[in-house]
Amino acid sequence: MKDHGRDEILRHRNGRSTFSGRIGYVLAVAGSAVGLGNIWRFPYLAAKYGGGIFLMVYLILVVTFGYALIVSETALGRMTKKSPVGAFGMFGKGLPFKLGGWINAVIPMLIVPYYCVIGGWVTKYLFEYLRGNTAALAEDVYFAGFTSSSLQVEFWFAVFSAAVVWVIMAGVKQGVERMAKIMMPVLVVLAVLVAVYSMTRPGAGAGIRYFLIPNFKNFSIMTVVAAMGQMFYSLSIAMGVLYTFGSYIREDVDIEHSTAQVEVFDTAIAVLAGLMIIPAVFAFSGGDAETLQAGPALMFITIPKVFANMGSGTMAGVLFFLLVLFAALTSAVSLMETSVSTFEDQMGWGRMKCCAVMTGIMLILGSFSALGFGILDFIKIFGLSILDFFDFLTNSVMMPLAALATCILVVRVVGLDKIETEVCQSSKFKRKGVYRFVMKYLAPVFILVILISSIANVLGLINM
Ligand code: PHE
Repeated sequence: MKDHGRDEILRHRNGRSTFSGRIGYVLAVAGSAVGLGNIWRFPYLAAKYGGGIFLMVYLILVVTFGYALIVSETALGRMTKKSPVGAFGMFGKGLPFKLGGWINAVIPMLIVPYYCVIGGWVTKYLFEYLRGNTAALAEDVYFAGFTSSSLQVEFWFAVFSAAVVWVIMAGVKQGVERMAKIMMPVLVVLAVLVAVYSMTRPGAGAGIRYFLIPNFKNFSIMTVVAAMGQMFYSLSIAMGVLYTFGSYIREDVDIEHSTAQVEVFDTAIAVLAGLMIIPAVFAFSGGDAETLQAGPALMFITIPKVFANMGSGTMAGVLFFLLVLFAALTSAVSLMETSVSTFEDQMGWGRMKCCAVMTGIMLILGSFSALGFGILDFIKIFGLSILDFFDFLTNSVMMPLAALATCILVVRVVGLDKIETEVCQSSKFKRKGVYRFVMKYLAPVFILVILISSIANVLGLINM
């Protein structure tokens, strides 16, 4: 087996790399988990799909489903010492095993292109703050004006993508990850400051209540569909990533404890981002329904208003977008790395060729997403823009399928007892009861219901 480049925190053992300990593992998983999902995606979904009720559903899903799936994927990775295609392949050679492995492996390849488009938006905003354009960025029309300018979006997408490819090719991944670890605490401190500032603006109280207090009137099945997709996305589950991470850890790493830490950290950052953005929507746009529904644009519309309001917001803008850029970069690098290693393992190609192929996929698919708000805006797939379509396809259709594949593999093929033995090697496995119940009953039924309703919704068969 090859070293997948996780050099700093890895040691070679029996030919396969391993993390140097539990802390190395937790930091690597947290680094991959915290990204645009927490800061950009979570707040806009929470705003759009019901505020407090979305938050409540999300939290319940994290401690049940999220927990069970992280444990399963990590344990399967550690047991097989393989990434998803190889791991599924170890338990059977038939088509279902191939499909189960590949659906997990293909998801990051579809996410990384549009992830880099958003990374490009972040880079552009950083650039504009560096030029001191604080007031212009805070105008309502700025974001729409920028994203409809195809050339600009494509340019910034290319800049961010080039950074990702450069980090992977130049072997500076280690340095970037080390820097990201220093920057993460700074991001947390800044996020707390911005959240406090937003929450104390006049009119923000309504936003705090909207985000924190569940209101059942705002509930719809889409609340659950969106919360589930977000949980997969944010925790980096149902996309093969944790199989790969799991394959790098040693038998003495406490899977249960590490999972809990990652869950808490990832969720705390998401909630913090929500507290930064949603109260600001109420304070600066009077909680108008249209802004709450802004979708992917929400962070880019709301945060600049907060900074412009601060007076000396340019510095805050520079710092904020720089930190978000780093979080996005480490996540994009880990998504790309996972895809590259799938090609390396399954096709047996050299690293250069794998990187070149993945870069090609990224540039082609990403360009469609990038231009979907500009010259390609006449293309709507099921009424969704191209970027939203890829986001929907991966999060609401493919990830539930990938999660279902893992559940079936665990319950029907490997056996819950075997996973339990694997986890118990290093943990007390206190939440064993929850784990078994989720994997055996709750997850499969729930995933199927959600999958069917989200597809029916997008096809317009039912209106939710
Ligand atoms: N979890 C990351 C985020 O929230 C996205 C991601 C998924 C990154 C899988 C790496 C691997 O942005």
